[in-house]
Amino acid sequence: MTADLFETTLFQYRDKTIFNKARDLAFDYMDTIHQAAPEQERLVFPPPESLSGLEVFDEPFPETCGDTDAILDLLHTHGSPATVAQTGGRYFGFVNGSAFPVALAAKWLADVWDQNAAMNATSPIAAKLEQVCETWLKDLFGLPETTAAGFVSGTSAATFSGLAAARNQTLSNMGWDIRKKGLFNAPRPRIILGDQAHSTVFKALSLIGFGMDDLERVPCDSQGRMRTDRLPEIDETCIVIAQAGNVNTGAFDPLEEICSLAGDAWVHVDGAFGLWAAGSPDYAPLVRGMEKADSWSVDAHKTLNTPYDCGIILCRHPGALVSALQNSGDYIIYGDQRDPMLYTPEMSRRARGIDLWATMKFLGQSGIRALVNRLCANAKAMGQKLKDQGFTLHNEVVFNQVLVACSDETTTRSMLARLQEDGTCWCGGSVWEGKTAIRVSVCSWATTEEDIERSVRAFAEARDKAVAGQ
Ligand SMILES: Cc1ncc(COP(=O)(O)O)c(C=O)c1O
Repeated sequence: MTADLFETTLFQYRDKTIFNKARDLAFDYMDTIHQAAPEQERLVFPPPESLSGLEVFDEPFPETCGDTDAILDLLHTHGSPATVAQTGGRYFGFVNGSAFPVALAAKWLADVWDQNAAMNATSPIAAKLEQVCETWLKDLFGLPETTAAGFVSGTSAATFSGLAAARNQTLSNMGWDIRKKGLFNAPRPRIILGDQAHSTVFKALSLIGFGMDDLERVPCDSQGRMRTDRLPEIDETCIVIAQAGNVNTGAFDPLEEICSLAGDAWVHVDGAFGLWAAGSPDYAPLVRGMEKADSWSVDAHKTLNTPYDCGIILCRHPGALVSALQNSGDYIIYGDQRDPMLYTPEMSRRARGIDLWATMKFLGQSGIRALVNRLCANAKAMGQKLKDQGFTLHNEVVFNQVLVACSDETTTRSMLARLQEDGTCWCGGSVWEGKTAIRVSVCSWATTEEDIERSVRAFAEARDKAVAGQ
């Protein structure tokens, strides 16, 4: 086999049987989620027997070449059942979006292109579509003309990039050239952030050299919004990190006030899912004033429902971003046009701007408005119906997150375990004000009224079983 390995490979590109097979298997998979008869429906989270099927992958690294057909069969037979059905309408875990078919289809095409989005020199089409997305995003979010966008794997990477730019700029304000002198012995910028900042903000801060002792944490109100009356004095030696969309309650920090109190300090906004509020006049007031910040991180794979992985760092000061993520080498070809790798931590990466472009081109401004409104309306309906069923609603449902609990801690925990086991829908748990709560994150375009009805019924049944000790 090894002798004809490359001949067989060339044949596969010409003959396409393997690609047709992958397409057929993918279609079978889609049908289990989007048009299965009720008795054939799969559970949203894989049951134990599907998970135990994963043991088939535990084998020693093969000595010889594998059979391509068998590889795809193995993936479909044991891999597909062990997936989480998050492209459907009843997955409410984390803040995981579904994917629009056109985005997935564009990604398939782009997968075949297999582009390296580093530079114009490695992929003119990837560079072009990122430049178009940059312009459209600035327009949608109402950001300053100077704003540059970097297309990264997710908000974690976007926040890391934005805060690296903030750190370099702030140190420069303090008379320290980090690129020349490094971070050791540098003066210390003050980091000001809400008590409810997302865990990935702390990770990003630690990656760029800040420890817990460097942080000034601002208390939040009962919904998780930063209390501006508790902000410390701020000057140009500070980096302020605000949040557009709390992962538990969906609440938004008062961005306008924070930006105005921050004066000359760098303000970064973590808007992983919430920044998209700007796309609907009904929800745009939640992000009022956000354009006054200096950098913003956001995910398209959340609210916008692009496929994974699709995060974006937007930065009003392209020079600071490029300086933080700079990379040079004799063989690197920077052209006259925008080169994607200038704005991202990575050099080589997939051309994620293509699926983002396809999603934005498909939805247009009116589609994004409809999508944001739909997710939020569904979340409100879910919250109301759960309340009607006797659940305690912990948050004002201002966006697409709903936080609920049963009458006591033990019932909440045991109800959640039953709900997850039942598999009609899937929700995760969290802790709010010291108590276990259930997060319902409505992030899929595919969620229908019926999905909500069925999920609410599953909640009530799980609670009743928990109370009855079954
Ligand atoms: C507010 C917030 N920030 C950051 C993140 C992390 O995003 P990612 O998983 O895309 O890195 C999340 C994820 O849910 C989030 O809700």
